[in-house]
Amino acid sequence: RVKQLRHIFTVIMLVFPVLVGSIRRTDFPDTFVFGSGSSAYQVEGAAFEDGRTPSIWDTFAHAGEYGGATADVSCDAYHKYKEDVKLMADTGLEGYRFSISWSRLIPNGRGPVNPKGLQYYHNLIDEIVSHGIQPHVTLCHSDLPQALEDEYGGWISRRIIDDFTAYADVCFKEFGDRVLHWTTLNEANVFALGGYDNGMTPPNHCSPPFGMRPCPIGNSSTEPYIAGHNLLLAHSAVVRLYRRKYTSIQHGSVGLNLFAFWSLPYTNKTVDVLAAQRASDFYLGWFANPLIFGDYPHIMKTNAGSRLPKFTREESKQVKGAIDFIALNHYMTVRVKDRSTSLENDIRDFSADAALEFILTTQGATPPGMFQVTEPGLQGALEYFKQNYGNPPMYIHENGQMTPRNATLNDTSRIEYLQAYIGNLLDAVRNGSNVKGYFTWSFLDCFELLGAYRSGFGLYYVDLNDKELTRYPKLSAHWYSNFLKGKGFKD
Ligand code: NOJ
Repeated sequence: RVKQLRHIFTVIMLVFPVLVGSIRRTDFPDTFVFGSGSSAYQVEGAAFEDGRTPSIWDTFAHAGEYGGATADVSCDAYHKYKEDVKLMADTGLEGYRFSISWSRLIPNGRGPVNPKGLQYYHNLIDEIVSHGIQPHVTLCHSDLPQALEDEYGGWISRRIIDDFTAYADVCFKEFGDRVLHWTTLNEANVFALGGYDNGMTPPNHCSPPFGMRPCPIGNSSTEPYIAGHNLLLAHSAVVRLYRRKYTSIQHGSVGLNLFAFWSLPYTNKTVDVLAAQRASDFYLGWFANPLIFGDYPHIMKTNAGSRLPKFTREESKQVKGAIDFIALNHYMTVRVKDRSTSLENDIRDFSADAALEFILTTQGATPPGMFQVTEPGLQGALEYFKQNYGNPPMYIHENGQMTPRNATLNDTSRIEYLQAYIGNLLDAVRNGSNVKGYFTWSFLDCFELLGAYRSGFGLYYVDLNDKELTRYPKLSAHWYSNFLKGKGFKD
């Protein structure tokens, strides 16, 4: 009974502000898009069906990196896409961000297109568009075809540039009549660090002293930068292709996605303030600087030295300006200390090049802990781009709260999180940031990059013990739906 009363109270507390709300959908421009997202490996399942071949993420999971859990079935979105798109429409999503599985569309990464894979994405996109939802498509969300990794080392080799461009060409040609928003790569910066510095994510390269655990191969001091360089060159080759062949007929745009926590100094000492600046230059400037100015940030060139590849004059010309928008995945604000002020036992939560001499920590942030930090830094990250990179068009591609997978459907903390961040986003819009859309991560609880099925970010819970993989709305799904349908919430 007490539990019931508490539940009724919670619902009243949530609905009341919605009714008298002060932040509304209509406070944002009409052209702004609100949605939610997923990625192919994380939701599709059907890993061995209809000609799909493994990606580096399949290999990583099948090697036991998640204690035996894999996304072979996951949410089975491959078969349940119609039901899911209906749920999106009922929720009121205006946009859906998802990715194409390269190895489903072109098995082995190169060569003939797989007709069944092609048909699936045509069907999915048709379904999305026919429900009046905008498709926002990522070409590679950490799931490089394993065959290309085996053949020449994937992103470590320049051969990736031609293969990625040929794959993008198929996507633009086939789907570009309906898809206007393309993102080449998800979290290019974290892909390079997780995959080649600390080995936490596929393709699982690392080496001491940077590696956070044993890895089979790799050189953490150079490979993240080589991969980063090739990611930039491949991205810009795809943008050039789109501009040359498709812009005049399809009128879409092509951007790059970066992981972006917001870095604040741990103390107001000058050394920490400068360390926070270095952290942003490292995480964001590494990719943004070449795309806007044609070269890496000065501080990176100085501190990483010869480990950072150099752009030739031709490459610099190709990369500079090869961007229609920058998309950010933002989850939290971190505190940054200069190495000289850090203590032996400071938590090193994230990878950072030792040469840059900063330590990132969620210690000191309020409240502490990953993905719980309600110190919204969306505005800070957007302002950084406004001030340093000429206010380019921006999207927030991911934002959301991680909770234990089997926690309650009454996810009030997720609602508080989203309220705080959407409020912060509105401040950024009002302050002149050129931000054009916002997507929560994630639509469904899915196979998570870092914890497989242990945690979830979804608006909908997916019951993995039920053969039907039934989707259940959390309170946050109702809340987001109310917001999207015009009911406001209190700031
Ligand atoms: C980063 C990645 O883009 C996505 O794949 C992951 O599940 C979420 N953010 C949460 O970690």
